[in-house]
Amino acid sequence: MAKGFSDDVLQTIRERVDLVDLVESYVALKRTGQNAVGLCPFHTEKRPSFTVSASKQLFHCFGCGAGGDLFSFVMQRETISFPEAVQLLARKAGVALPERDAAGVDRRRQSLYDIHMAAADHFRDRLTSREGEAARRYLQGRRLTPESVDAFGLGYAASSWDDLSAALIAKGWTPSQLEEAGVVVPRTQGGGWYDRFRHRVMCPIRDVHRNVVAFGGRVLDDALPKYLNSPETPIFSKGRYLFGLDRARETVAATGTLVVVEGYFDVIATHQAGFANVVATLGTALTPAHLEVIRRLVTRVVLVFDPDAAGVRAALRTVDLFGPLDLRVDVVSLPGGKDPDRLIVEDGPDAFRSAVEAGRSLLAFVLEHLVPPGDYRTVDAKKAAAARALPVIAKIRNAIERDHYRAWVADRIQVADSTIRDALGRTRGDARRDGDGRRQAAPAHQPVRTSAPRPKAELVVAAALVQGRLDVSRVRALGAEAFTDPALRAVIDLVCSSVVSEGRVDASPASASKLWALAEGREDAARAIAELAVFVWSDDEADKEVDDCVTELEICRLKPRVIEVQRSIAEADANGEAERVAELQQELNRLMQATERLRGSRLVSVRAVGG
Ligand code: UTP
Ligand code: MN
Repeated sequence: MAKGFSDDVLQTIRERVDLVDLVESYVALKRTGQNAVGLCPFHTEKRPSFTVSASKQLFHCFGCGAGGDLFSFVMQRETISFPEAVQLLARKAGVALPERDAAGVDRRRQSLYDIHMAAADHFRDRLTSREGEAARRYLQGRRLTPESVDAFGLGYAASSWDDLSAALIAKGWTPSQLEEAGVVVPRTQGGGWYDRFRHRVMCPIRDVHRNVVAFGGRVLDDALPKYLNSPETPIFSKGRYLFGLDRARETVAATGTLVVVEGYFDVIATHQAGFANVVATLGTALTPAHLEVIRRLVTRVVLVFDPDAAGVRAALRTVDLFGPLDLRVDVVSLPGGKDPDRLIVEDGPDAFRSAVEAGRSLLAFVLEHLVPPGDYRTVDAKKAAAARALPVIAKIRNAIERDHYRAWVADRIQVADSTIRDALGRTRGDARRDGDGRRQAAPAHQPVRTSAPRPKAELVVAAALVQGRLDVSRVRALGAEAFTDPALRAVIDLVCSSVVSEGRVDASPASASKLWALAEGREDAARAIAELAVFVWSDDEADKEVDDCVTELEICRLKPRVIEVQRSIAEADANGEAERVAELQQELNRLMQATERLRGSRLVSVRAVGG
């Protein structure tokens, strides 16, 4: 039993959920030999140092030092407890947690997920039943294929005050549980509850693990409100989720490009037309929470805005949002003011494709609106235009881009480029000051590595041990004292005392995660194990490198002994103990010979490779 869960259950989850796949629902990874590498989800970085070992099922970030297994990844990424992580992964793996295992599980969240799953099933049933006739016709009228309806799990909420709640209560949920899930609403008078969604087409909103976390429901006619959405619940916040991301994620990660539209049906229509990297916000602008979710998956974001004033305002807000990130952001407004759904239905998929391809950079779009073509001959007009444009330009991180747009503004308002540059120097000073304040508020984590770099030879030997490239007996002979790095020494102790076989550490994922679990309570050792598991070898010379490093540690281990003996000799000599001096001298000779031998063996092997 580990923290209330049987080893069986944890093992089954480990077998069914691949860490590389799991991490890829948050971060784009590139496979490089034995490891997969990407941008760390736990701190802000530009070069990928987050490494996942597929064979060991452990991860380690060389930037911030975060590390662990499947369960600790979910705990850290979702900021949830161990029981919650087990619960989440069990759901993903389709593993039922036995009653006795569920002691520590947050039953409240679990029932919210269960209610949403049951409700989505119910709505889907209703869509295919007799009551669903009008909804089916509505969807047909919008040119949705049965495949799309199925893929997005669309459903129908019957025209009734209690169709859903009666069904769910019959399955054992209480009205107050249904209220917490947001699917029923308490009556303001006379007590009781009624169904929130009635006579609407239902779009389930899913998280990246495909759990239904909320619903959006559309009327079948022109009634208002057009869309009704789930309220905020413990498992749902509308500023955090993107509709369709569960279906788009793979294509987004593969292409690096995410297209953001405004409506549910825009997502369904674009996917149906073959654009699989499209998502929608849920009636809000993009938020920092959205960017946290997507920024490591993408290198380019395409925003499809309405070309009206609201669209421009939304684009302007987005400049601040994207400012600190190194993403290419393009803006698209569709011809004829149509939304993607209408454009595709009326003009075909190619019209949408070429509109997206004709997208302009967000900065060009915004500056064009802030400094539109016009008469800038008067001083006042120049000053006013510069005041609108400079704050935007000051936020551009990339120097080449900044120069480009600065020159563009100078040209448009007919001012010398150097004048704009001087003004910009002052504005950037301001921007940097308030930029720092914003960085503190941003959700991004900062690197937390504090420890000194680990000695190379110790790292190599420990990695060889953990990865089963080196006999345990050799490291036992060396002794944990040969390691000066406290975390590595703890790992060596752990492996040497827990691995009974005289051969090598078993190279299976199960054994790696067992080791990691054994280190529980010693966080530095646990992290070190993850780091060692993703250690990469320089191919053909790996065995020699390991040998050399063992030798180096053996030499190092002899050094204190040599010093000690030399000191004893000096002491015995001062006391006139000739016999003792001779004895010690012999020991010193033996030590020196041993050192020479070790050095020699290393030199020989180095020469052998060179020759
Ligand atoms: P739009 O009003 O642009 O509608 O809302 P749409 O997506 O084109 O809808 P259709 O094509 O007529 O079905 C865009 C998004 O804003 C949110 C929804 O998320 C919607 O998809 N919205 C809109 C609401 O939440 N409530 C509303 O009443 C309207
Ligand atoms: Mn629409």
